[in-house]
Amino acid sequence: MRKPFIAGNWKMHKTVAEAVDFAKRLREAAARLTDRDVLIAPPFTALYAVAEVLKGSGIHVAAQNLHESRQGAFTGEVSGPMIAEAGCDYVLVGHSERRTLFGEDDALIARKIEAALECGLKVIFCIGETLQEREAGLTAGVVERQIKEGLKALRNDDIKQLVIAYEPVWAIGTGKTATPGQAEEVHAVIRTLAGRLFGEAAADSLPILYGGSVKPDNMAELMAEKNVDGGLIGGASLDFDSFFRMVMFDRKD
Ligand code: 13P
Repeated sequence: MRKPFIAGNWKMHKTVAEAVDFAKRLREAAARLTDRDVLIAPPFTALYAVAEVLKGSGIHVAAQNLHESRQGAFTGEVSGPMIAEAGCDYVLVGHSERRTLFGEDDALIARKIEAALECGLKVIFCIGETLQEREAGLTAGVVERQIKEGLKALRNDDIKQLVIAYEPVWAIGTGKTATPGQAEEVHAVIRTLAGRLFGEAAADSLPILYGGSVKPDNMAELMAEKNVDGGLIGGASLDFDSFFRMVMFDRKD
């Protein structure tokens, strides 16, 4: 069965000292949790230090982006092998902020996913529609296109290295969360499509996270949906107590 997967995307927040402090608290509190996956995605500058703190804890560390080449004259960029060596086991690809603010399209995202898998990184592949697309009834078509294009180069077994995060653009950082029903509807579309593309068994074990204004107060109701396996949390993951409440969303201990 799929384990709950709780992931914090810190975006461009936290110095190395702040990130390390958070990671130490997380290690202390969550290292022994085996019934769920916990992940944080600090900015590049803090990856190595955070990964050192979390080594052996079972808590995952992700980079928020990677370049599609292994090395080269690409000033300001960071490659997959560098991220893996820094101690990360995951990388986010296709976040809507990368798509809209940095011009990443489906073709580039497909190359990045391929590059990540090649160097042994697992991928949290982010997809989601804009408000305009939702209002025009295009949601299912948009996520289907993003998945088909983004995962073009995937071989059958690669799907095991993948997590999908459905993040409707209109819900990111807006305080406007998708209702559990809205999230479930799209998650079901994603799982059905994954089944068509990669087989039922693979689709069945594929973690599909919801992201977009997830908070301690709405985490449990989202997680109660059949096809919602976890959360990719931005703003509410920055404060330790808030993030930890979401990590422990269904536990009283
Ligand atoms: P918020 O939780 O701040 O809406 O951000 C969601 C997100 O973009 C996570 O990747």
